[in-house]
Amino acid sequence: MATNVDVVPPPGPRPGLTRLESVDGRSFVARGPSNEQPVPGDYLEPEGEGGVLAFVEEVTGDGSAAGFSASGTLVQFGGGSGASGRPAGAPWHDVAVRPTRPDTVQHLLSAADPELHLGHLAGQDSVGVALVPNRLNRHTFWCGQSGSGKTYALGVLLERILLTTRLPIVVFDPNSDFVRLHERAVEANALQAGALGGRDVVILRPDDEQTPLRVRFTTLTSRAKAAVLRLDPIVDRAEYNALLRLFSGDFDTVDAGQILPYLRSLGDPDAEALAQRIENLGVIEWTRTWALGAVPVTDVIARRPAATVLDLGGYERPEEQLTVALAVLDDLWARRAERRPLLIVVDEAHNLCPPEPETPLGVAVRDRLIQIAAEGRKYGLWLLLSTQRPSKVHPGIVSQCDNLTLMRMNSREDLEQLASAFGFVPRGLLAQAARFRQGEALLAGGFVAMPSIVQMRTRVTPQGGTDVPVPMP
Ligand SMILES: Nc1ncnc2c1ncn2[C@@H]1O[C@H](COP(=O)(O)OP(=O)(O)OP(=O)(O)O)[C@@H](O)[C@H]1O
Ligand SMILES: [Mg+2]
Repeated sequence: MATNVDVVPPPGPRPGLTRLESVDGRSFVARGPSNEQPVPGDYLEPEGEGGVLAFVEEVTGDGSAAGFSASGTLVQFGGGSGASGRPAGAPWHDVAVRPTRPDTVQHLLSAADPELHLGHLAGQDSVGVALVPNRLNRHTFWCGQSGSGKTYALGVLLERILLTTRLPIVVFDPNSDFVRLHERAVEANALQAGALGGRDVVILRPDDEQTPLRVRFTTLTSRAKAAVLRLDPIVDRAEYNALLRLFSGDFDTVDAGQILPYLRSLGDPDAEALAQRIENLGVIEWTRTWALGAVPVTDVIARRPAATVLDLGGYERPEEQLTVALAVLDDLWARRAERRPLLIVVDEAHNLCPPEPETPLGVAVRDRLIQIAAEGRKYGLWLLLSTQRPSKVHPGIVSQCDNLTLMRMNSREDLEQLASAFGFVPRGLLAQAARFRQGEALLAGGFVAMPSIVQMRTRVTPQGGTDVPVPMP
């Protein structure tokens, strides 16, 4: 018998018993039986409302016969305004919904260029989640417990930026994790690796003879010089003044060996005290920090390579790491009026901007980062700060971040803190972070189309320091 075409069901999931209501055409509440219960981050497709999806943010229901209740936001996509012709803001009553087909969600989350994909929606391999690159002009907070995959995922983002934008990057790399950003991973796709190979990636390392990581002491700000020497302009006013005089005259040398004899030759007790301080702190022995005749890091960054990786992990002393960071940040700030965009990536950001640094150098670095967080955006200085716990970074910096990447996070206290700092991120999605697997991340903020739980894609370049394996017999 011939089949009547009118009764062939449309392809894709069929509408179930779940029904949706919206009082304002923007937020919604959906109720249905427990076997149709969605999870936060899911999309539901309202029947007969083309171009609109219901994004689930909160779900209550325990799988019992009572069913579930879900709430969230109605999202328009692809320029659709709803096939029903309903005016914007009009209420919705008793609309049937069904699970969304992957291709519908793709319209919302995936860009035409698959190179922009940071990964795919967790649990839906076919739905790529694209970076919205023009929204990297904000500060970004990157958080997750140790081993959750922050550094790996950060590498994924940096590779996408290098491949798809012309936004220069500088990376403060305290664990030498990004020192292979110019190499190709064994498993990498040849085309992408080739494209990355064409970008100017400069790796500066303390022990590298060709491209050493160096700072020029004479061009540091007075405050930075004083911080290196642990001088307070009021408490240590005589020595501080001797320091100012040292660099305000003709004294300009690339020979570190001349500094102490010169100070002592002046016959001035304050200069002598300063000489003693320099000697006692051993600052002249930081031979892998001072440029002397070499090209300073600030000159390299001023040239704006596509990426400049600063291998802070190559230094033994935390003071040397802080000195390099301060030199770079002060110089970027001094040149801010040039308004040349730069993404400033700080892995293990608690090293550079903890709430309460312990040394004058630490305070100077943190204060500069607070200033860049507060005012850098309009000069094109955008921060991306990665750390294990939100409380480890100064709250004045976290509160300035508009993009969030959250990886696995067990601590309820930390999740609460993130929920209050990032009010735009649905709590139902944040709460799932306790169950994330390695490489899963919640991305939220303008740099993605919608808050999404993403399985990050594979790296093109190798990660520098990976986990140490347990020795086995
Ligand atoms: N998506 C992934 N695919 C494959 N390996 C991964 C992935 N994410 C992380 N890893 C590996 O897991 C280990 C830990 O990841 P990673 O170093 O990124 O963690 P982390 O969150 O930065 O930790 P920490 O806070 O201690 O620095 C590394 O060896 C890394 O290569
Ligand atoms: Mg890490």
